[in-house]
Amino acid sequence: MKYLFFSLLGSALGASAAGQLNYTDSNTGISFSGYTDGKGYTFGMALPEDPAKDFIAQVVAPVTDGAGWAGIDMGVSMAEYLLIVAWPNNDEIMLSPRLASAYATPSVYTGDVTLSPIAKGTFVNSTHYSATFVCGGCITGGSDSFSTDGDLAVMAYAYSTSAVIDPTDTSTSLSYHSAGFSGFGQNLAAAKSAQYAKWAAMATNTTTTPKVPTTGGGNSTIPSTNQTTTISNSTYDYIIAGAGPAGLIAASRLAESGASVLLVERGGASTFSTGGEDVVPWNSSVTVYDVPGLAYYLSSMADSGTYCTDTASQAGCLLGGGSVVNALMFVKPQDADFNDRWPAGWKASDVHSASERLFTRNPGTSSPSADGRRYDQGAYDVLSKFFGANGFRSVDALNEPNSKTDVFSHPPWNIHNHERGGPVKTYLPLVQDMTNFKLSLNTKVIRAVRNGTWASGVEVEKQDGSREIIQVTANSGKVLLAAGALSTPRILFYSGIGPSSQIRKVPASVQLPASSQWIDLPVGEGLQDHPIITLNLATNASLDTLDPSAFTSPSNSSVSQWGRGSGLLTQAGQRLNFWTSVTPTADGQRRFLQGTCNSPSAGTVRVKLYLTHGLTSSSSVVLDATGANTQFSGSPWLQTAGDIEAYEMFLDRMVQMVSKPGAGVAIQLSDGSVAPAGITGAVLLADLNSTLVTGAHYVGTARMGPRGNGTSSSAVGGVVDTDTRVYGTDNLFVVDASMHPDLPTGNTQAIVMVAAEKAVEKILGLDGVTVGGGDGMQKEGALWSRRDCAAKLLLLQVRSVSISR
Ligand SMILES: Cc1cc2nc3c(=O)[nH]c(=O)nc-3n(C[C@H](O)[C@H](O)[C@H](O)COP(=O)(O)OP(=O)(O)OC[C@H]3O[C@@H](n4cnc5c(N)ncnc54)[C@H](O)[C@@H]3O)c2cc1C
Ligand SMILES: *[C@@H]1O[C@H](CO)[C@@H](O)[C@H](O)[C@H]1NC(C)=O
Ligand SMILES: *[C@@H]1O[C@H](CO)[C@@H](O)[C@H](O)[C@H]1NC(C)=O
Ligand SMILES: *[C@@H]1O[C@H](CO)[C@@H](O)[C@H](O)[C@H]1NC(C)=O
Ligand SMILES: *[C@@H]1O[C@H](CO)[C@@H](O)[C@H](O)[C@H]1NC(C)=O
Ligand SMILES: *[C@@H]1O[C@H](CO)[C@@H](O)[C@H](O)[C@H]1NC(C)=O
Ligand SMILES: *[C@@H]1O[C@H](CO)[C@@H](O)[C@H](O)[C@H]1NC(C)=O
Ligand SMILES: *[C@@H]1O[C@H](CO)[C@@H](O)[C@H](O)[C@H]1NC(C)=O
Ligand SMILES: *[C@@H]1O[C@H](CO)[C@@H](O)[C@H](O)[C@H]1NC(C)=O
Ligand SMILES: *[C@@H]1O[C@H](CO)[C@@H](O)[C@H](O)[C@H]1NC(C)=O
Ligand SMILES: *[C@@H]1O[C@H](CO)[C@@H](O)[C@H](O)[C@H]1NC(C)=O
Ligand SMILES: *[C@@H]1O[C@H](CO)[C@@H](O)[C@H](O)[C@H]1NC(C)=O
Repeated sequence: MKYLFFSLLGSALGASAAGQLNYTDSNTGISFSGYTDGKGYTFGMALPEDPAKDFIAQVVAPVTDGAGWAGIDMGVSMAEYLLIVAWPNNDEIMLSPRLASAYATPSVYTGDVTLSPIAKGTFVNSTHYSATFVCGGCITGGSDSFSTDGDLAVMAYAYSTSAVIDPTDTSTSLSYHSAGFSGFGQNLAAAKSAQYAKWAAMATNTTTTPKVPTTGGGNSTIPSTNQTTTISNSTYDYIIAGAGPAGLIAASRLAESGASVLLVERGGASTFSTGGEDVVPWNSSVTVYDVPGLAYYLSSMADSGTYCTDTASQAGCLLGGGSVVNALMFVKPQDADFNDRWPAGWKASDVHSASERLFTRNPGTSSPSADGRRYDQGAYDVLSKFFGANGFRSVDALNEPNSKTDVFSHPPWNIHNHERGGPVKTYLPLVQDMTNFKLSLNTKVIRAVRNGTWASGVEVEKQDGSREIIQVTANSGKVLLAAGALSTPRILFYSGIGPSSQIRKVPASVQLPASSQWIDLPVGEGLQDHPIITLNLATNASLDTLDPSAFTSPSNSSVSQWGRGSGLLTQAGQRLNFWTSVTPTADGQRRFLQGTCNSPSAGTVRVKLYLTHGLTSSSSVVLDATGANTQFSGSPWLQTAGDIEAYEMFLDRMVQMVSKPGAGVAIQLSDGSVAPAGITGAVLLADLNSTLVTGAHYVGTARMGPRGNGTSSSAVGGVVDTDTRVYGTDNLFVVDASMHPDLPTGNTQAIVMVAAEKAVEKILGLDGVTVGGGDGMQKEGALWSRRDCAAKLLLLQVRSVSISR
């Protein structure tokens, strides 16, 4: 006897082997051919001898606490297929046709399908539920179902022991902790029977017509995770994802224009002025982020939540983003930083007024101590003498941003009123009390909610794990992404934007748009960073070298100086910067180098040597296999002959410079020994290569430029246009370091801020609004309702006395 009886299967749960089977169901008498996973899921199919569009399906699966769901998929591949899902609802069995892909939340199938249950085979008992039904129209003849031309069809099953979100609703969201999912070969020949018509006649003709979920107009549920997602009843003209320097500047300028603005930040408060609680032991109104002198020691002093744990490399994950965890270098971009590779409209002359706006509010300083003194100058003294003797010119980098070959400077720092500066200090206070501005901390943007070209808002996840959709103003609202170069790509992938190879890795808990709505753009590609190698120089000069405890456990005199805005603690970690450039023969492309120097221990001066503007190495940001984390597809550093040659050329020059009589410094190898005289740059680089670290200056993962795609093998094309708008969308923008098509000569924060000022000018310009007045009165169009200007001015006056904490 070749038929295996179904009742036997049930009693042998977990013991039977997975695979094809033929059986006759004792409840209905129908002979099925199908598949079992060997753990309780069984699918059976019965076909007429001459199949057309219908078949009889039986889906049996284990019930767990009265719940679970089980489906049969009419195909298996990256594309979308008709999926019929069954689940118990008390004593009833619910049936729902869905459109499934391996990667997206199944939405309700809108094609013409009629599901007619056969009562005897449709029930819940204490161990299983069984759904037996005529699947009317399920052999659609289209690409979303199998064909009956051959003897075999490729199908798939999926089931879960978790409850659907709302068992009473045939359009409910499913849960995504499936107990099993796999494709299998369905024997069509064995499923055919002359008795089909008799069996199908047992079906009660109750048609299941699921409701298509509605969105909008108050709170409602939409399919997403194992929980409901509510829809916020507040809408905003602009929603900005990420409160790093770019997001803060964009949000502030938009709020100042009078528009309603929601700034969403996944992390918590940082500086004391924003409510940060990570205070230093010696002053309860100062956080570790506020003290410039702690910048080099933050990773050991700050809260564990400070850094993102799901990014390819280090990134700040709190209010201020990188600008509150970085080392405070504030290198104004030189003209070449824009002129070489940014597109027309973004050249140095085009961003001039944006720069002015930034540097007016956030000027930076190379002399932060209120008493006008500079502290701990040993390394500066040694190196200024050394470089001065070798033709390097002393400049103030803040005043002469275009002098970047053979110059040195006291470090330019993003320090404001003797504390860490940046937009948390210089922009946020100007808008934080405006009624049209809202900052939402501890709220993570999952995706932009998209239908075709229109982004209707964002889906966010709050600290308690609940999700909410927040919408932008109908027809005119805009969504700006500013989650940083290592996180903005994830939001884009999760919004169905990027190479399909990445979108396919998006976790099932994220609702993707239908694949027909995916936008093929080179998101994540073209990632660039500054490599840093460390070159230690031995010196006999007596340095007033400071132990790290001078910063981490400051002396009483340092603490009292801090109270007066002075002293060592008001300075960041660097003591001298130099810049130069070289042009390798490999490609004739000029590259810049930056040295960031201090004295880490007696007898040693440390040069952190960055290869910067002009470098050609790149990599990509991709999702890992779980889809939750971003990672690099390969090393972004020193991948090209020109980049390697550039370092070697400069090291050759250093060898020459230190070999001069009276140089006062000697090059050390990575093991601390003094390098032999006449060592070549190439040998030196091979040794120092082991010191290579990231500059944490990531850019270029959603580049501005002519439209590209995820399949181009040539140069990486653009993801955003010159208005910073994502191609293929009406109202989705990227304003952070991701959209930079090039790396600058210095550390990235200053150019990120300049470019954000420019981006917001462009975005406001789309609606005829001018940026920069600061009082919200320069609106020309009638996009949003008029705000009360008098009240706003009053607010500004009140604020201006209360912000200077
Ligand atoms: C350790 C370190 C040291 C550095 N040192 C310097 C330096 O000395 N000088 C310099 O010029 N540059 C430095 N940089 C680089 C500089 O800080 C960055 O270039 C700059 O911060 C980038 O700004 P951004 O706005 O593009 O992104 P980020 O600063 O990364 O800000 C992104 C923000 O978005 C938030 N976010 C991320 N994902 C989401 C989400 N899904 N939903 C909501 N919010 C989200 C993050 O929490 C963060 O607040 C350093 C960076 C690091 C990490
Ligand atoms: C419940 O129904 C399934 C499917 O018909 C069957 O295999 C199983 O034995 C039944 N369990 C009980 C306890 O009757
Ligand atoms: C099912 O029946 C067909 C014939 O109708 C046979 O070819 C096939 O091997 C059977 N499958 C199993 C698993 O017994
Ligand atoms: C159910 O009714 C529809 C419409 O009257 C008909 O087309 C279909 O064949 C019926 N299905 C069954 C299983 O009787
Ligand atoms: C809408 O959602 C909010 C929270 O997001 C909740 O407080 C409110 O009660 C909900 N309103 C309705 C009518 O369900
Ligand atoms: C939004 O919902 C909350 C809670 O349900 C309610 O208090 C508030 O008035 C609503 N706001 C608007 C604008 O409808
Ligand atoms: C998406 O947009 C199309 C037309 O652009 C519209 O017909 C459809 O209803 C929209 N879908 C949703 C869910 O809003
Ligand atoms: C539901 O989601 C929450 C938060 O994402 C998670 O902690 C929980 O384990 C999930 N529950 C189930 C039953 O999957
Ligand atoms: C603590 O720091 C604040 C802010 O910098 C400063 O104003 C205050 O004087 C300091 N307090 C003491 C006791 O030094
Ligand atoms: C330091 O002094 C020692 C002993 O005089 C000498 O050998 C060495 O070259 C000096 N180093 C430098 C960098 O001048
Ligand atoms: C640096 O080291 C890495 C890893 O050991 C190696 O792959 C690379 O070729 C080296 N690069 C240079 C320039 O020496
Ligand atoms: C992708 O871009 C490349 C280079 O611009 C182009 O040749 C190719 O046709 C594009 N492919 C698609 C699918 O658009």
